[in-house]
Amino acid sequence: MIFPDVRMRRTRAHAWSRSLVRETVLLAEDLIWPVFIHQHASSSSIIAMDQVCRLGVDQLLKQAERLHRKGLQAIAVFPVIEPEHKDDMGSYALDDSNFLFSAISKIKQHLPTLGVIADVALDPYTTHGHDGVLAADGSVDNDRTCQILAKQAVKLLQAGADVVAPSDMQDGRVRVIREHLESLSMHYGLILSYSAKYASAFYGPFRQAVGSAGSLAGKSKDHYQMDFHNIKEAYIETQMDVSEGADWVMVKPAMAYMDIICRLSASINVPIMAYQVSGEYQMLMKLADGNEDQVRALFYETLVGIKRSGASAIFTYAAPVMVDFLSS
Ligand code: PBG
Repeated sequence: MIFPDVRMRRTRAHAWSRSLVRETVLLAEDLIWPVFIHQHASSSSIIAMDQVCRLGVDQLLKQAERLHRKGLQAIAVFPVIEPEHKDDMGSYALDDSNFLFSAISKIKQHLPTLGVIADVALDPYTTHGHDGVLAADGSVDNDRTCQILAKQAVKLLQAGADVVAPSDMQDGRVRVIREHLESLSMHYGLILSYSAKYASAFYGPFRQAVGSAGSLAGKSKDHYQMDFHNIKEAYIETQMDVSEGADWVMVKPAMAYMDIICRLSASINVPIMAYQVSGEYQMLMKLADGNEDQVRALFYETLVGIKRSGASAIFTYAAPVMVDFLSS
């Protein structure tokens, strides 16, 4: 294939010919909207994330209903817990009075065809900000944490969630959760495992949004989240989660990890989700600097790239603006 016989610009010359040969198509149906939900009726803005607010359940319902009509298929709910409900065990995660349970029930009641994904981890609930309970040395106690997470998963599904998504990165938690669900005849609870979740500086704005940043006070999650220098452990983590009973797996963050998405999608035969995380979102919002066309262009390009690399669906805080754009 040598110039001048091959002129790649022939195909690129027209909009119609460019569309005919397009390999990747991004749909509103490919996006999952992560939402911060709190127990108050009115919204509160998140300083670290432009145009993202913590929402009351009724506000969330209103927005989700509109977006669902335009093609959005699922939301992922993240609770913002008041400091007085936090303790070192994250007990409120299992407390029947936790507002998240009634919020999920309400969402499913009003929008039964919208998928609801609920995070399984203790970080919104713990005073120390870690995803599980601590051992004497201050590290997360793996096996005790798994038992608590399994109970949390059961309660989230009982409240009406369709998918439970362990984001805690403890070893063996998918098996413990799956066994709990099967023993209770909860055969159809989907598990989306955050399998390849790297210890990333891009989670900063999320931690500010849910209030775990202050709790963590600079402590890292390096002893359980993955080391971003590595590829091999992404295979092991993902294969392990699939064999333990995960229906879907996740790569997170997305944009600095597209090689991981690409490699896993070539070798793992379950759907792979990608999470364009809070820091990635904010980075693009800062670049767009209030220009709405730029916002759409930057998210369109990066989301197409993430899908092209092999993701089945993508978590993105830009879902509201992109669902509008993609369905117009
Ligand atoms: C914690 C959790 C985190 C995110 C989702 N679940 C943060 C963390 O691991 O500290 C980050 C998402 C984002 O940055 O958008 N269980």
